[in-house]
Amino acid sequence: MALQWLRSGMRSGVLVAAAVCGAIASASVTAQEPVLQGNPQRGKPLSYTCLGCHGVDGYKNAYPNYSVPELEGQHPEYLAAALKEYRDGDRAHLTMHSQASSLTDQDIADVVAYFAGKPLTPDSKPEGNIPAAAQLCTSCHGANGVGITPQYPTLAGQHPDYIVRALEEYKKGGRKNPVMAGMAATVKDEDMAIIADYFSRQRPSLATESRPYTSFGKESGGK
Ligand code: HEC
Ligand code: HEC
Repeated sequence: MALQWLRSGMRSGVLVAAAVCGAIASASVTAQEPVLQGNPQRGKPLSYTCLGCHGVDGYKNAYPNYSVPELEGQHPEYLAAALKEYRDGDRAHLTMHSQASSLTDQDIADVVAYFAGKPLTPDSKPEGNIPAAAQLCTSCHGANGVGITPQYPTLAGQHPDYIVRALEEYKKGGRKNPVMAGMAATVKDEDMAIIADYFSRQRPSLATESRPYTSFGKESGGK
C-alpha cells in the first residue's frame, strides 16, 4: 500500500512528505488505542435517534444545505474515528457533536458495528476515467472509491454534495485531520465537484441505512 501510494504521489514531493508524516503520526496514535469489539445488538437501541437522519433517503442538513452522509457499507473503524472527532471537537458540526457527546467509546464501537453492515468489496473496473484531480486520492480511497484500509473512508456512492462539503471543511479547518487537511489544501475549488462526481458514481456503493437488515435482526422491530 505504502509503496503504491508513494509511487502515485511522487509527482508532488513536498506534499507527499508532509502527508506521509501525518499518516505515520495518525497510524501510531491509532495503534495505541485499544481496539474495542463492537456488539451490533447493543448498538441497535443506540441507533434510533441516528436513523431519524441517516435512515431517511435524501435527508439534508439545513444551513448549509447538503446531504446527510450514507453510512451503510462504510468501514466501522472509520465511522468510530469520525464519531470521536465530532465528540472531541476535531470536527465542527453542532448536531453531530451533541449526538456523539453522550456516547462512550464502547457505545461508539457498538453503534458503528450496527451501522456498517456488510463491507463493500470492489469487484469491477472503476466507472469512467479517473479525473486527473482525483488520481492521488485513489491511492488511499481506492480507484473504485472503497477505502483501501479500514481507516480510509469509502467514498463510492457517497452523496457528491456531502463530499464537497467535507473537502471544504478540511480546507477551512473545521475538520482537523492532518492527512486530509494537507490533501484538501491542494484541491482547487473548481475540481471539487469533478472529484465528488467521480467517487459518487462508483459501485458497489454506500447506502442509506436500511432497517432492519442485520443477521440477528429478523425479529419484527422489537428493541
Ligand atoms: C439531525 C440529523 C442527524 C442525527 C440525529 C445524527 N446525524 Fe450523524 N450526521 C449528520 C450530518 C448532517 C452529518 C455530516 C456532518 C458534517 O458535515 O461533518 C453527520 C455525520 C455523521 C458521521 C460521519 C460520517 C462520515 O462519512 O464521516 C457519522 C459516523 C454519524 N453521523 C453517525 C451518527 C450516529 C451514530 C448518530 C446517532 C447517535 C447520528 N449520526 C445522528 C446528521 C445527523
Ligand atoms: C494518505 C491517505 C489519503 C489520501 C491520499 C487522501 N485521503 Fe481522503 N481521507 C483520508 C483519511 C485518513 C480520512 C479520514 C479523516 C478524518 O478522520 O476526518 C479521509 C477523509 C476523506 C473525506 C471525508 C469522507 C467522509 O465520509 O466524511 C473525503 C471527502 C476525502 N477524504 C477525499 C479525498 C480526496 C478528494 C483526496 C485527494 C485529493 C483524498 N481524500 C486523499 C486519507 C486520505
